Amino acid sequence: MENLKLLRNYTKKHKIRIIHDMTRVAENAYFIQQREKGYDQKTIKDIVKEICTYTDGATMSAKKDALVNIGGFLATNEWDIYEEARNLVVVYEGLHTYGGLAGRDMEAIAIGIEESLDDFHQHARVGQVQYLGKNDRIQHTYS
Ligand SMILES: Cc1ncc(COP(=O)(O)O)c(C=O)c1O
Repeated sequence: MENLKLLRNYTKKHKIRIIHDMTRVAENAYFIQQREKGYDQKTIKDIVKEICTYTDGATMSAKKDALVNIGGFLATNEWDIYEEARNLVVVYEGLHTYGGLAGRDMEAIAIGIEESLDDFHQHARVGQVQYLGKNDRIQHTYS
């Protein structure tokens, strides 16, 4: 978060927008919670909301943290970016209201975002990778 705040100060000074690739935002927020001073009492949701306050927009491939088989989005508070993207999405994907996605896929993304921001989910997810990385027997079986 400290890095992002520094970047925000710099880009503000030079009038540069930050469009955040938030594909792994839930996992990154978990690491901020676990490792950065002052964030251990905050939820992943709160940390993600704070990240969003330092950015002007975001893209997400929902196939990673949001746990779905297809889809993603561009989000922005900037009207001019929205207008341009809305026109371009028709050419490349479909109408801006669905971007080529089926309704059930959009619903799965919404649920996936909600679930990925659950502190217990991230703890379990990262925890199992740590467990597998540390477990000698598993390493020897496959090496
Ligand atoms: C951080 C990050 N952003 C974006 C992408 C692109 O995702 P997609 O394959 O859905 O285009 C990836 C893919 O691995 C990624 O890891």
